[in-house]
Amino acid sequence: MSLEDEILRLKRDRNAVILAHNYQRPEVQDIADFVGDSYGLSVEATKTGADVIVFCGVDFMAQTAKILNPEKTVLIPSRHALCPMAMLLTKNELEQVQKNNPGCETVLYVNTHADVKALATCICTSANAPKIVSQMKTDMVIFGPDANLGYFVSKTCDKKLVYAPEAGFCPTHHQIEMVDVERARKKYPNAVLTVHPECQPQVQDAADFLGSTTQIIKYCVESDEKEFIVGTEMGIIHRLEREAPGKKFYPISEMAVCPTMKNITLEKVRNALLKNRFEVEIPKDVMDRARVGIQRMMDLSK
Ligand code: 13P
Ligand code: SF4
Repeated sequence: MSLEDEILRLKRDRNAVILAHNYQRPEVQDIADFVGDSYGLSVEATKTGADVIVFCGVDFMAQTAKILNPEKTVLIPSRHALCPMAMLLTKNELEQVQKNNPGCETVLYVNTHADVKALATCICTSANAPKIVSQMKTDMVIFGPDANLGYFVSKTCDKKLVYAPEAGFCPTHHQIEMVDVERARKKYPNAVLTVHPECQPQVQDAADFLGSTTQIIKYCVESDEKEFIVGTEMGIIHRLEREAPGKKFYPISEMAVCPTMKNITLEKVRNALLKNRFEVEIPKDVMDRARVGIQRMMDLSK
């Protein structure tokens, strides 16, 4: 029996659903029931009737699925699928920033751990960050951990952001430089430049389209243009090529790879279902507090 068939059989036996992020390996995306961005995956996690969620993404995403489904078993197939940006903001650090800025509301990027989310007024993703921040009640808003996403928010929203930490970033996106933009523009003069807001400000400013991974996919599918430079993690190109056959997609840099996302393989997905590993566990009181900000994001995103 092939690995794919084994996964499908185990999935049926356990009444499981497989959710995968747009940066996952092609073969993992292909076995998933739903592939999406952080926001879409959170929404999908609230809809499933499955008993088990196998989350093919990184730690904070699987935690979000668990927070939204405390009664379900949520599995992340690799213990090493850890987002380095989410590690940049600790509970103690955020508490200190909140103490130094009393009265400010706090919007946290979904790329944070559950105990940190528990301190937020509201959560946001790259699909809705400006919309969420602009709906906060205070003029000053504590925002973190991604200062590049903060720049994207500041461009369209008149709130003053206080960063926590001071200059957090995603290593995969932050390493994309203007030289990459210039090289790609020169090599593909007819291509449209799409960029994720985790990229640096100057790279964002050079973009023809800025958005979350799913927003980039929607834009490329619906556009009349035929060629696109992809200013985000390369894993997205698999879905782009599947959903927009006949169009051409060029990575902005061969280095735009998130190694932690690639930790999940088909074999690990099979083992997750077979050996029930690795189960996401979060204390109930933390989940209850973290859920408030996630739920508020969903309400304010409508
Ligand atoms: P989105 O898929 O929500 O755009 O996020 C990208 C990302 O880096 C998630 O870690
Ligand atoms: Fe984290 Fe960046 Fe990887 Fe997304 S792409 S999971 S933000 S390291």
